[in-house]
Amino acid sequence: MEISAKKRILSGIQPTGTFTLGNYIGAVRNWGLLQQEYDCIYMIANMHAITVRQNPADLRRQSREAAALLLACGIDPQKSIVFVQSHVPAHAELSWVLSCNTQFGELSRMTQFKDKSARHADNVNAGLFTYPVLMAADILVYNADLVPVGADQKQHLELARNIASRFNNAYSDTFTVPEPYIPKTGARIMSLQEPDKKMSKSDTNVNSFILMLDEPDAIRRKFKRAVTDSEGAVYASEEKPGVTNLMSIYSVFTGKSFEEIQREFEGKGYGEFKDAVAQSVIDVFSPIQNEYRRILADKNYLDGVLKAGAEQASRIANKTCAKVYKKVGFLQL
Ligand code: TRP
Repeated sequence: MEISAKKRILSGIQPTGTFTLGNYIGAVRNWGLLQQEYDCIYMIANMHAITVRQNPADLRRQSREAAALLLACGIDPQKSIVFVQSHVPAHAELSWVLSCNTQFGELSRMTQFKDKSARHADNVNAGLFTYPVLMAADILVYNADLVPVGADQKQHLELARNIASRFNNAYSDTFTVPEPYIPKTGARIMSLQEPDKKMSKSDTNVNSFILMLDEPDAIRRKFKRAVTDSEGAVYASEEKPGVTNLMSIYSVFTGKSFEEIQREFEGKGYGEFKDAVAQSVIDVFSPIQNEYRRILADKNYLDGVLKAGAEQASRIANKTCAKVYKKVGFLQL
């Protein structure tokens, strides 16, 4: 990538299972769109993944799969840097220095830590606690200007900003203080079964989420079973979270506005509406799935992309890390 005046974007996604429709709309789809306007760095966050116990063989395989899926979604390695976190040691190195500039009290206030330690009570490891520091390192090591994050990561980004400012004050200007990037089409996709909850692949009910690699039949079936209401009319309203969620999905996949959708389904039942939503998703996901399988089968190409990505990322990250090591007084020989 050339040096340019474009702003730099960094984001990461954990390689724990296939991305959901929610990940696609909330994150990955936008990552592709941002490439025109920004210098983008996209990371497979495998170091974050081990805060919860992973099967090593699965984690290895899923890291490649996640990379292949990102590429299939239109992330172009000629335009953006795509890499696996553990291939760039500077993340871990900077993380240590930053952890010495982060307060125990600050980390204790992270709501995701509280949630996750309750959910994984048998494995409340120190990494789960310090994970937001690693995330701060991910961002600050590239001096990212903007970070696209969902609501659940907002608090972590705020912490990264605080750590950056604190370090800059203590050791002179070093880090760019990152801003959150709020996507223009930022629909938050909810569970198909409990539409007041976010769609999540860790949900125990598989009918509550659509995976990007779901077969067309599974997609149709899950939408058929989606929870709506007894009114039978397609329009958006706070009292109709199920229908509104389906409208959001349909809107993103067809480009139609809520008004257009309401008109399209006037006098028609939910059955017809749900079939149309399912078809709109299948029309977008099918070509992505084909491309995903093609890329995943070409291991040389995929690994080449990740190797080149790690080299490009390391060049930037090592520079920042060297600067930080100097500033905090680590001996240089
Ligand atoms: N913590 C994020 C998640 O669980 C993934 C992530 C890791 C990330 N490092 C990041 C996101 C840096 C944005 C920036 O979804």
